[in-house]
Amino acid sequence: MNRRIAVFGTGYLGATHAACMADLGHDVLGVDVDEGKLAKLAAGELPFYEPGLPEVLRRNIDAGRLRFTTSYQDAAEFADVHFIAVGTPQKRGELAADLRYVDAVIETLAPMLVRPAIIFGKSTVPAGTAARLRKRLRALSPVGDRVELAWNPEFLREGFAVQDTLHPDRIVLGVDPTTSGGEAETAAREVYAAQLGEGIPFLVTDLATSELVKTAANAFLATKISFINAIAEVCEATGADVTQLADAIGHDARIGRRFLNAGIGFGGGCLPKDIRAFIAMAGELGAGQAFGLLREVDTINMRRRNKMVELAREVAGGSFIGARVAVLGAAFKPESDDVRDSPALNISGQIQLQGAAVSVFDPEAMQNAREVFPTLHYASDVQAACVGADVVMVLTEWRHFVDLDPNDLAAVVRQRIMIDGRNCLDPRRWRDAGWIYRGIGRP
Ligand SMILES: NC(=O)c1ccc[n+]([C@@H]2O[C@H](COP(=O)([O-])OP(=O)(O)OC[C@H]3O[C@@H](n4cnc5c(N)ncnc54)[C@H](O)[C@@H]3O)[C@@H](O)[C@H]2O)c1
Repeated sequence: MNRRIAVFGTGYLGATHAACMADLGHDVLGVDVDEGKLAKLAAGELPFYEPGLPEVLRRNIDAGRLRFTTSYQDAAEFADVHFIAVGTPQKRGELAADLRYVDAVIETLAPMLVRPAIIFGKSTVPAGTAARLRKRLRALSPVGDRVELAWNPEFLREGFAVQDTLHPDRIVLGVDPTTSGGEAETAAREVYAAQLGEGIPFLVTDLATSELVKTAANAFLATKISFINAIAEVCEATGADVTQLADAIGHDARIGRRFLNAGIGFGGGCLPKDIRAFIAMAGELGAGQAFGLLREVDTINMRRRNKMVELAREVAGGSFIGARVAVLGAAFKPESDDVRDSPALNISGQIQLQGAAVSVFDPEAMQNAREVFPTLHYASDVQAACVGADVVMVLTEWRHFVDLDPNDLAAVVRQRIMIDGRNCLDPRRWRDAGWIYRGIGRP
């Protein structure tokens, strides 16, 4: 059954969700406070890079199933299913999540809900948020208990957002078991009928469990990355090769090979802030001791960035003064233009502050990078970034960089020194072409 859906927040998560829900046949209204973003979306233009999403967006705008507005009133009148997809960034100067945008959706929308409706939260929030918002929603809505709030955490990966939304690994729904949670489950089953028809696992939990599933999943992934980076430090001390080691342990199905790539660590708009919010929440709940673990995960991750700067300085001859460094990659990962907490940009900034001339190139993230780090130099392509370079660094593993020809690049650099911050290049190819190759945790 097709539903009338409103999605609040049309960033990476919300724009994807809105377009994909329309693609499933629902009638969808995307709501945001950013008029510039909405104007682009309404014109079928994506304000960020996400492979495959522009086609889904345009197809559904053209079919009349997808519209955008700033008006909460329109959304309240139009939809009976609402998704919250606004940001939950880290609070300034604190580890905790900033919930003001999520709160604002409820405070604005609830008084306008004059007939029964279901609100699904998708944003990543600390446990306890959904129960609090549910109480507030029912207090503010003129129809009181006839509005329901459930939590439906989102696990999509940027770069694979369409695939992950239309064919997720699982759907988690947190409901309040004491009252009308059943209505939320019924609505979710209708919204996600196509996914359920594919046999995708559907797990119904209480509210707190659903919130924790998301933060625990991110904490586990972050731990896996920092684990292999800690092993990489040991490999460096012993002359072992962390890539071979990861291949070998990854064959064990209990361990698995994915997320075991040593490198400059994780960044982006989710993992760093989510593990910090998790530490803050655990502390507030009196369960903080267990999360010494996540502090260590965060510390190992941030240490990778400093080590990368040290390695670059070492190969540049002990000082960055007068050195030219080419940085390939600005996005926090390939297939994305997201530079939030990007290790590549953090490292570029540190190297520049220590006296080097840094030239950055990224296939998709140039505009976002310029906004965050306006003082770095941005080159028009790989060759331009590498002209006269003493050191070349690959800091985001775009396919474009993995496939580079060492001989082509050799013609423009001053010294053939390659630092592979993602262990994504073939060391032999680069060494055979006369380059000094340095990876992470490999000889
Ligand atoms: N980006 C991802 O890959 C991803 C994956 C899973 C979960 N999440 C979670 O989803 C949430 C959103 O993340 P994002 O990456 O899409 O953030 P984002 O910053 O790209 O988008 C947030 C959007 O919300 C809008 N907004 C702010 N206040 C609003 C309000 N009161 N009403 C309507 N719109 C408002 C902003 O203008 C912005 O467009 C976060 O909690 C994040 O942790 C993100």
